[in-house]
Amino acid sequence: MKKTFTILGIESSCDDTAAAVVSGTPEQAEVLSSVVYGQFELHSDFGGVVPEIAARAHAEKIDICVEEALANAGVTLSNVDAIAVTSGPGLIGGVLSGVMCAKGIAVASNKPLLSINHLAGHALTPRLTDGIAFPYLMLLVSGGHCQFLIAHSEERFERIGGTIDDAPGEAFDKTARLLGLSQPGGPNVEKAAKEGDPKRFPLPRPLLDREGCDMSFSGLKTALLRSRDAVITEKEGLTKQDQADLAASFQAAIRDIIVEKTRRALGRYLELDPKLPCLAVAGGVAANMEIREALTSLCESVAVRFIAPPLKLCTDNAAMIAYAGLAKFASGQTDDLGFSARPRWPLDASAPALLGSGKKGAKA
Ligand code: KG4
Ligand code: ZN
Repeated sequence: MKKTFTILGIESSCDDTAAAVVSGTPEQAEVLSSVVYGQFELHSDFGGVVPEIAARAHAEKIDICVEEALANAGVTLSNVDAIAVTSGPGLIGGVLSGVMCAKGIAVASNKPLLSINHLAGHALTPRLTDGIAFPYLMLLVSGGHCQFLIAHSEERFERIGGTIDDAPGEAFDKTARLLGLSQPGGPNVEKAAKEGDPKRFPLPRPLLDREGCDMSFSGLKTALLRSRDAVITEKEGLTKQDQADLAASFQAAIRDIIVEKTRRALGRYLELDPKLPCLAVAGGVAANMEIREALTSLCESVAVRFIAPPLKLCTDNAAMIAYAGLAKFASGQTDDLGFSARPRWPLDASAPALLGSGKKGAKA
């Protein structure tokens, strides 16, 4: 029987302070606990995450979070085989809080340390939740990330496209602000869109005329602003129906961009002739039912399995970091105390740098 490991994971790269305990093997692992302290209220007045506020909040919460994760899992540090921590990419002050906490625990408990790339955590999540085989195609869509990755192994990820400006979650959040809806924008725009006519405002689908899998969302926001202002000038205000129609038109544009680019990414991926072809999504935008349903039918049409892990494992969490740590530890690797926190850390260093960074800091 394969040896099992128990790993403590720590995550603090953006605006969620998180700790988790995962146990098992890379093929079959179980989340024993996963604690997440969000910072939504702390940043809500500023229209984005404020790095200094985030870093302070992480520093205040991180040890409480670790204690809770251990207690909820019913383990103590002595039962843990190693400590995995996000060491980038992300907002540097936050990443540092997690890294310093992990190093302190590692020294005090004499346990091995594992330095983990946050994006690898997201990208390996479908292995944790569904045990899927390599290679699979991954679409990360959130407020901070937007990229297509082919996961070839636990250590090799090929980036075949991504946003060149805003992340889609960021576009949803800005749209909510323009329409006077509250934050986080995604769920509120989706709700408003349910009552709206997606065809009323012909918004652009940027980059669809260009080959490849790169995406662009910033022009959409400007187009939406113009459509909104035209209505306001004409009627001296926005009715509920105008708001719903604008939300629906925006959501349809985002869906079309993501679906068409995913179709192309699937084409590239299927050239590898995978035995069990699979597309997995992660990130808050994967919660959007309109986008999820469109991706489900796209996958059905090309006989590819579609996986959307439970939302709490799609958004930022430490279970994914603990799992990525487990896979690394099981392959015999550990890191020494000297590793640094990294604001930028592309998963695929050979791919050209993406221009966009997203409101939550540089991710690629
Ligand atoms: O993954 P996440 O929790 O955090 C990071 O950005 O890392 O994603 C949050 C983003 C926000 O921009 C939010 O508006 C968006 O995901 N989001 C959605 C929905 N739920 C959350 N976007 C569209 N539709 C949704 N239902
Ligand atoms: Zn993330």
